Amino acid sequence: MAKYSNQKNKIVEEEIAEAAQEIKNGNLVLFPTETVYGIGANALDEVAVKKIFKAKGRAGDNPLIVHVCNIEMVENIVKEITDVERKLIEKFWPGPLTIIFDRKSEKIIPNAVTANLNTVGIRMPSNKIAKKLIEKAGVPIAAPSANVSGRPSGTKVEDIIEELQDKVSYILDGGFSDIGLESTVIKVSNNQINILRPGKITKEELEKVINNVCIDTHVLGKVEKNEKVASPGMKYRHYAPNTKCMMVYSKNNQKMVDKINDITKKMYEDNKNILVLGRKDNLEEYISQKKWNIGENLNEIAKNIFTLLRKVDKENVDLVIIEGVGEKGLGLAITNRLIRACEYNYIVLD
Ligand code: TXA
Ligand code: MG
Repeated sequence: MAKYSNQKNKIVEEEIAEAAQEIKNGNLVLFPTETVYGIGANALDEVAVKKIFKAKGRAGDNPLIVHVCNIEMVENIVKEITDVERKLIEKFWPGPLTIIFDRKSEKIIPNAVTANLNTVGIRMPSNKIAKKLIEKAGVPIAAPSANVSGRPSGTKVEDIIEELQDKVSYILDGGFSDIGLESTVIKVSNNQINILRPGKITKEELEKVINNVCIDTHVLGKVEKNEKVASPGMKYRHYAPNTKCMMVYSKNNQKMVDKINDITKKMYEDNKNILVLGRKDNLEEYISQKKWNIGENLNEIAKNIFTLLRKVDKENVDLVIIEGVGEKGLGLAITNRLIRACEYNYIVLD
């Protein structure tokens, strides 16, 4: 059983030092970041890193993100940092942006971290506990999101303690994650930024650094069997509850509400149960008996969505209908997670 830090948000230095010692000893630590919780190990220790894959039941071909606390750690791992990458680092680090770099040929980072790729994803988290943990461990920390593979990422310890407490040596409880969605993952090539996974750092914000930003086709498109992808994580079932989910979206809010009510009506005629997840202002319009507030704006929805998706299976309903949010700004990241939660079962009206 893991050791558990005493108080949320009031983790003391000694507790971070104890957790850092576990990292140095080759063990796993559950820790908060500003995006979601991570399950971390010494990124330089292949044996330790393999424990992460085992704990999550993660496919070995899905690489991990390396978390650093300074630029020297990056320089030690990567072949070079280009001018565009330096600009991005200056603007967005520490923060929720992961950059995919070419690895140094001497392979400082073991192959288990990068799933044998010649590239490595790196980010510098802004969460104070995460930063201190890396500083005190003195090594970069490889960490995927804290969840058993396929489940929604953990945004509070209460949600993930059951599935992970026996698999880690230390749990640092930093309260509810600020952002609630994983970092934006990008790769820069030929002066172009390619978004492999959308997140809090939006396309619009990246465009302020260089104008040439594109979104990988698999961010919203379905990955077909045996199709080659830029980021292995895109291939896997992710975020989906066991209960069937469906996303419904229209730019026209009334149209969206009406469509959700139409579906609810039909389901009721078949004696089926429904849960609607919608924005606060829409809730009273829904005829569904069960309805949950997902938030009032994109930031709130991003923060709430994973913890809500984790709860739907307890409701014993036949279908969960979730309001879509569109693709502007943070909406792209939310939509990317929602269509996976719904296993591509969605309707978009004009
Ligand atoms: O916010 C986050 O990024 C969180 C926190 C803990 O930092 N971490 C996280 O890790 O979401 P994970 O493992 O759940 O997602 C990492 C994603 C995967 O989709 C993986 O395929 C991709 O990043 N990735 C990692 N290294 C890569 C590489 N070298 N090339 C392409 N994609 C990579
Ligand atoms: Mg994940």
